Amino acid sequence: MIRINENYRKLKASYLFSEISKRVDEFQAGNPDKQIIRLGIGDVTLPLPEVCLKAFHEAVDEMADEKTFKGYGPNQGYAFLREKIAEWDFRKRGADINADEIFVSDGAKCDSANLQEIFATKKLRIAVPDPVYPVYVDTNVMAGRTGPNVDGRYEGLIYLECTGDNKFIPSTPRKRADLIYLCFPNNPTGATITKRQLKKWVDYAIRHKSLIIFDAAYEAFIRNPKLPHSIYEIPGAREVAIEVRSFSKTAGFTGTRCAYTVVPTTCRAYDSEKNEVNLHSLWGRRQNTKFNGVSYPVQKAASAIYSELGQKQVKTMNDYYLRNATLILKEMTGLGFQCTGGTNAPYIWVNGNTDSWEFFNLLLKKAGVVVTPGAGFGKCGEGYIRISAFNNYESVQLAMKKIVDALRMD
Ligand code: MLT
Repeated sequence: MIRINENYRKLKASYLFSEISKRVDEFQAGNPDKQIIRLGIGDVTLPLPEVCLKAFHEAVDEMADEKTFKGYGPNQGYAFLREKIAEWDFRKRGADINADEIFVSDGAKCDSANLQEIFATKKLRIAVPDPVYPVYVDTNVMAGRTGPNVDGRYEGLIYLECTGDNKFIPSTPRKRADLIYLCFPNNPTGATITKRQLKKWVDYAIRHKSLIIFDAAYEAFIRNPKLPHSIYEIPGAREVAIEVRSFSKTAGFTGTRCAYTVVPTTCRAYDSEKNEVNLHSLWGRRQNTKFNGVSYPVQKAASAIYSELGQKQVKTMNDYYLRNATLILKEMTGLGFQCTGGTNAPYIWVNGNTDSWEFFNLLLKKAGVVVTPGAGFGKCGEGYIRISAFNNYESVQLAMKKIVDALRMD
């Protein structure tokens, strides 16, 4: 008899963003004339930068000619892209990362979801922030590393509480954690971490022989020059951290799909006999078996951001979303809400001081604006909503006007 993976039954019925989308579709079906502005999921709206489009077109033309046609590419990604990533994203920032330590992929979500596969399924102590990007938790639940969900939390996980009291920066836990997920600039709170704070985590991981999965998908929104863009700016991180990056938000690739994960050749974990094991080879083995690489035109398009002109276009694009964030922050603060994020991050985390799904419903029904209820990111998200700055400026202006009118009326 074919049996299911019972761990899936521990999960909430649907993934957060699918649930939101379902609720919005139901509302729209019942209110076909109501204009809806989406500031929920962090999905980009601006077209790809010109440099990317040009490279994309040229690469598609190469596929039309037998002399330049490409079949399977290298599983780890083309060297032309990996070398540029190593140079522009790391070495220019003083982080010692080489091209052969980079694994190009089709998404930071997939990578952050799949990385858990190379670690033990039993007796692994996993620490996740709360609130958290749900993928880190759900994939470990699927793999059977947790007990059931009791009162909004999975048994067996270590929850790192991020609240207004610690400015949404988690402290290292008293209990030993073997695998730690960190995300900065943070999704969903928009909080950023300093080098000093990040160093505490790297030191903790060295001390406890732990591993950090550092999700830096939003690093392109950092404008404060003192903030770290990569965990490898911290000494010692090469041994204890894997970093996940994405072109999705950096260069508008949510529909194009390109990302990468860095597993330094010095990064280690341990086997059951406590012998050191090289994680670079393990992840390489996993990718070679399960992944066939990202298409050549997409990698060409991604590599185009690594030039003076490319960087300028990407910055202009992200400044545009940051301008939206500034407006959202100003209006929500003006309404009297305590907010975080929105300055070096595209998300604004708003303390609504009320049930977050109720706040979501109110904004949807009265203002026609979709946000993300904080409770969907974990227990500590209750009371909050997340507003995404990804949309065009005029829509954000209109959304804020509608929210202001709706809340003043309420
Ligand atoms: C979000 O809105 O949190 C992100 O867009 C989700 C994702 O990147 O998968």
